[in-house]
Amino acid sequence: MSEIGVDLGARSYTVHVGRGQLQSLPDLLEELRGRRFVVVTNRRVFGLHGRNLERGLRHLGRVARVLVPDGERYKSRTTLAAVHDAFVDAGLGRDAVVVAFGGGVIGDLAGFAAATYMRGVDLVQIPTTLLAMVDSSVGGKVGINHPRAKNLIGAFHQPRAVVADPAVLVTLPPRELRSGAYEILKCGILGDRGLFRAMQEAPQGLVGWNEAAIAEAIAGACRLKAAIVGKDEREAGLRRLLNLGHTLGHALETVTRYRCFTHGEAVGWGLIAAAAIAQRKQLLRPAVARAIVAATERIGPRPGVDALGLDPILAALGHDKKAKQGRVPFILPTAIGRVTLRFDVTRADVRHALSAMAARRSGAVT
Ligand SMILES: NC(=O)c1ccc[n+]([C@@H]2O[C@H](COP(=O)([O-])OP(=O)(O)OC[C@H]3O[C@@H](n4cnc5c(N)ncnc54)[C@H](O)[C@@H]3O)[C@@H](O)[C@H]2O)c1
Ligand SMILES: [Zn+2]
Repeated sequence: MSEIGVDLGARSYTVHVGRGQLQSLPDLLEELRGRRFVVVTNRRVFGLHGRNLERGLRHLGRVARVLVPDGERYKSRTTLAAVHDAFVDAGLGRDAVVVAFGGGVIGDLAGFAAATYMRGVDLVQIPTTLLAMVDSSVGGKVGINHPRAKNLIGAFHQPRAVVADPAVLVTLPPRELRSGAYEILKCGILGDRGLFRAMQEAPQGLVGWNEAAIAEAIAGACRLKAAIVGKDEREAGLRRLLNLGHTLGHALETVTRYRCFTHGEAVGWGLIAAAAIAQRKQLLRPAVARAIVAATERIGPRPGVDALGLDPILAALGHDKKAKQGRVPFILPTAIGRVTLRFDVTRADVRHALSAMAARRSGAVT
């Protein structure tokens, strides 16, 4: 079991990672005893793991439940309003504790509902996808989509605790497991050589990836994210490094209207692109670039990029909301465990990255 501290003064909290943590909720959340809990989840996650969760919570206080539909398109203003309505109907007051139980969609939506209800009530993140365990549940970013842009409406609202129990991942579809693994690999490349090595050693396609290794990898990624968030909670500088692989990843998601790649798959392609661009700019040794590509490929098949044109991708890059005065920020690796922020990535660099990506044909995705 790992306990990782996120050091944010009065808003500090612990990320608990380990098998069986769901059973230990009454101990882990002891300081919230006697409060009113409201679990926000969807039918799928609740059907698989909900009873296990609520059994633990009931030791601490009264428990209400709000079910929302499953899917990114429900991370919306309409669903947010329905969640707020349910809070009002349940008579929740300022002592409420919102428990976000699901993947990143639930974490973001329930987290934003908690941030905005009565100017902010307490939140506990209990992520059930690998992506949510290593990324979205830690760091306090919460929000919903606007019809015209993803994650446009949001807030920073740190949880009181995060509880990641890898036992729930046994029901996760393999594609979702791989999706989270690309974010773990990202963490390794940007700041943890041991984590990078661990991902190099994971089984091909993550088939049979053992639970102890998964728990270690989750803890490693959370440690890295916690350290960065502890120094730069609101993304004034350092936290931007977590966007390694995301500049191009977001562009791929945009041009395919979020219908082709999972977020992690798009980030996987973004890691390959970042390695190719860094090598072209002579920031990264060819052998290290090859190691990054090989580790990304090892995680498994992703939908290919051959059919995507350069121009739509360049247009989408220009619209990245983090673009500053038309210059697109790119995080590029300079070694395993080290990255740099650059604003000088040219059209030719992106074209080069795309041909490096197209050369890697991924297999069927299941
Ligand atoms: N706030 C942040 O810092 C941050 C960071 C990264 C991503 N995100 C957001 O996270 C979202 C993506 O999250 P995601 O990849 O977890 O997707 P998701 O929440 O849509 O979950 C993927 C699917 O897995 C199902 N599921 C969840 N847990 C399961 C389990 N244990 N067993 C079986 N099925 C399970 C879900 O119901 C869903 O159908 C996006 O909206 C993205 O914007 C936020
Ligand atoms: Zn991401």
